[in-house]
Amino acid sequence: MSESSLSFAVTVNPSPRTAQQRAAILEKPGFGVHFTDHMVAIRWDKDTGWHDAQVMPYGPISLDPAAAVLHYGQEIFEGIKAYRHADGSVWTFRPEANGARLQRSAARLVLPQLPVDLFVESLRQMIAVDAAWVPDQDEASLYFRPFMIGDEPFLGVRGAQKASYYVIASPAGPYFAKGVAPVAIWLSTDYARAAKGGTGAAKCGGNYAASLLPQQKAQEQGCSQVLFLDPVEGRYLEELGGMNVFLVYGKTNTLVTPALSGSILEGITRESILQLARDRGMNVEERQVSIDEWKDGVSSGQITEVFACGTAAVVTPIGQLKGEGFSVGDINAPAGEVTMSLRKELTDIQYGRLPDRHGWLVRLG
Ligand code: PLP
Ligand code: COI
Repeated sequence: MSESSLSFAVTVNPSPRTAQQRAAILEKPGFGVHFTDHMVAIRWDKDTGWHDAQVMPYGPISLDPAAAVLHYGQEIFEGIKAYRHADGSVWTFRPEANGARLQRSAARLVLPQLPVDLFVESLRQMIAVDAAWVPDQDEASLYFRPFMIGDEPFLGVRGAQKASYYVIASPAGPYFAKGVAPVAIWLSTDYARAAKGGTGAAKCGGNYAASLLPQQKAQEQGCSQVLFLDPVEGRYLEELGGMNVFLVYGKTNTLVTPALSGSILEGITRESILQLARDRGMNVEERQVSIDEWKDGVSSGQITEVFACGTAAVVTPIGQLKGEGFSVGDINAPAGEVTMSLRKELTDIQYGRLPDRHGWLVRLG
């Protein structure tokens, strides 16, 4: 049997949440707080490859205290959602792109390549047992968190000889507490998220560990996310701690986002927004954007909107940029029109309210 057609052994959770408990959670899911009744696990080792695919009750993972992930941070992950359509069916968005990104992240951290069709199948297996956890209210979804760890019990520093892939799932409402309202962003000049030649383009846990201190500083300044500049000159925009960033030049109908630099995460939402903007006839530019361009452009009125995007936060308007000794934008101004209409178009496709003209949706259940 080829790895990509591994069959899953299913152990049904003997004590799942009751329908009533689940309904109470789905009513106000928050983000990343509650988890469904099951998870997927697939093992890998150098000799046998991928094997032992299982759907099992959600629960703690047992690890040898010498496992590589606990010492050298050998962990990668993905974020992807399941959306319930009006007819009750459950769909996901561009899963092959997430599967391919997981492979790129794996290559950078010397973890094994999970076949993309096995990645997609792992999501399908989750929905086969936990479909009832996909919310049906507006703007809510089931957020999958696929992840992979190096779990060989060995303190030598080397590529994975043994690894495990898991999928857990968490019902999700808005990522930010205030929903789709404009957020304030803190410019980090003391810290970079990634280094030249580092792991910025990989979705690995270490990048997020590195963002925690600047993120904490951002929160102390009343900001909900941190903006990082390039790690070489400290001059060009890269991205936020967990989202890509876009500037709208309203008068010239132009959408600008930092070009992939080798240290930016290649967001699937980013790429989708670029496509939707091109489809509408907007001018689209992927290029270096200096922090001065943002500050000056907002002050002069040329930049009319700024927004962030990612799976968790979808499209979130940025009302204000703050940093040591400066502030631009107005947090109380309403969300921009282009931002909100791109957000609406993207979510209308995801929730099946608009035709899926790019073939982005894959049915899971
Ligand atoms: N940048 C970072 C650092 C992220 O964590 C994410 C979220 O996954 C993104 C960008 C956006 O990526 P995507 O749109 O694929 O979710
Ligand atoms: C996502 O948007 O899926 C992310 O990974 C962002 C954050 C929750 C880490």
